[in-house]
Amino acid sequence: MCGIVGAFSRRGAVLDGMVEGLRVLEYRGYDSCGVAVADGERIEIRRKVGRLSELEKLLADGALAGARIGVGHTRWATHGAPSDENAHPHSDGSGRLALVHNGIIENYLELRRELEAEGRKFSSETDTEVLSHLVGRELARGAKLVDAVRTSLARVHGYYAIAVMSTGAGGGLVAARQGPPLVVGVTPDAAYLGSDVLALLPHTRDVVYLEDGDVVELSPGHYTVTDLAGKPLERKPRRIDWNAEQASKGGYPHFMLKEIHEQPDVLARTAFDRILSDSGDVSFEHGDWSDERLRALDRVQVIACGTALHAGQVARYLIEQFARIPVDIDYASEFRYRDPVLAGRTLALAVSQSGETADTLAALRLARQLGATTAAICNVMGSTVVRESESTILTHAGPEIGVASTKAFVAQVVAAFLLAVRLGRARGTLSVEQGRELLDELRRLRPRMEALLAPATIERTAAIARAHVDAKGFFFLGRGVNFPIALEGALKLKEISYVHAEGYAAGEMKHGPIALISKGMPIVVVNAPGAVADKVRSNLHEVKARGGHVISVGSDAASHELADETIEVPATIEALSAVLNVIPLQLFAYHHALARGCDIDKPRNLAKSVTVE
Ligand code: M6R
Repeated sequence: MCGIVGAFSRRGAVLDGMVEGLRVLEYRGYDSCGVAVADGERIEIRRKVGRLSELEKLLADGALAGARIGVGHTRWATHGAPSDENAHPHSDGSGRLALVHNGIIENYLELRRELEAEGRKFSSETDTEVLSHLVGRELARGAKLVDAVRTSLARVHGYYAIAVMSTGAGGGLVAARQGPPLVVGVTPDAAYLGSDVLALLPHTRDVVYLEDGDVVELSPGHYTVTDLAGKPLERKPRRIDWNAEQASKGGYPHFMLKEIHEQPDVLARTAFDRILSDSGDVSFEHGDWSDERLRALDRVQVIACGTALHAGQVARYLIEQFARIPVDIDYASEFRYRDPVLAGRTLALAVSQSGETADTLAALRLARQLGATTAAICNVMGSTVVRESESTILTHAGPEIGVASTKAFVAQVVAAFLLAVRLGRARGTLSVEQGRELLDELRRLRPRMEALLAPATIERTAAIARAHVDAKGFFFLGRGVNFPIALEGALKLKEISYVHAEGYAAGEMKHGPIALISKGMPIVVVNAPGAVADKVRSNLHEVKARGGHVISVGSDAASHELADETIEVPATIEALSAVLNVIPLQLFAYHHALARGCDIDKPRNLAKSVTVE
């Protein structure tokens, strides 16, 4: 998704810092980029289709290096193809205004006709340019920038995060939010804007999250937030416990590999200090997780997208098993439009790494309107999902930069496990002893995760991935908690290797998809000793009988004996096998993509945080 940066400094130059900010936002996905800066009255805009390195070539002459105010953007095309003309910032042709935008202006065609009828000339196909002309029109009428922005936004339907700069009397730097995230950070000598706290971390760890309807005016050392009508609002900074180092590759060739390796620490950070060993229970910090509240629930409705949805599917198995509460799960994008019925006292549980996914947010809001109690499993403190949920379990995965989610998934599954234990203890379906045994086993996962990440173990997985580099397609099969793991293994491969991969419930294969199996087709079977292990083995026989080449992943020795190749995973209880089994699948996808020469951290067509519908 698009990324926004902005800076206004009393003394220092802003361009290099803005370009670094855009580099940090690259992970969100983009196809063009640009900056606008002013050093005096005239605003200079440079923009380019393609990677940031192309833009840097345009800036290499150093002509703009002294500017003290600017805005920058990485664009992920929606209205208009990726091109130099459609890249942001946009202007109104006056040379004294520049605007960047994330989101969609739904009534842009009608506004464009109105503005063209007044003689305004458009130079792009974007919806955004309408906004720059609206603001420019107000400035031409003598309005201050902040008032011009407010008046213009009153004409707009849609959702947006914008940053606008103008020069001349009443000019400056103004931003507004209605939908996509925007954060502000202020130091004594400067003020900064970003779509993501990661872009602000080199400057400050005290950030202000703008809320929907906020308009902020920035100047060096100051920010003022008002609503669209100009009423002052109080928005206090929050201290972020992430640091800039966490947002670097730390010596790894890719963020994805670094993040896979962080998973043992992520387990510890997300779980260990929440465990109450004496009572075999768990404590959460944010919201009401009391026995009384949890006993009152009739059901749980999980809403999420993509990888987070797979974590939600694991949550369903765990919560139903430990707490005996019915759990429904739906794609957030389906839930929000299917006129859902939420019977009884429902806990709507949003699962999201970013906390800004548009569909998840809309589904959460709908669930609240329908009377559900809301909770979130989320990785970003201060994100919209967290702010709008009554209770939150923060996953402490740290910033996840790789577009293909890895450590955030493991953190979500661990958080779901903790929640299932808490629900089970609150509702009396787990005894102290049972709770304690489950939590002790969770603690024991850490060295087992480390074993999976030992160089020799990784190399065995990598060798298998490389051996299948020319395969036309893959199946990933599992049952129980390992069914979502099969889905996740297939999604990882699709996302970064661009190979067709189907994740399937192993028992469902014979109802159709088994027809796709031809001699030598790689079939990854995920299994762990437990309630469904022998059923999975029967399914394994079925695919082998049709010529499938079976790669057995997990700790079920009997499955390994039947397989063509094996990836051995340390044993644990079935409920926790998902946490371990996903790691070799992440590594499999990583090494497969590497062998195919794919751009692992920035896969084509994908954005890290999908803040539009
Ligand atoms: O930030 P979220 O967890 O809400 O994002 C949900 C999905 O967009 C995300 O998991 C996506 O599927 C990733 N690319 C998975 O690797």
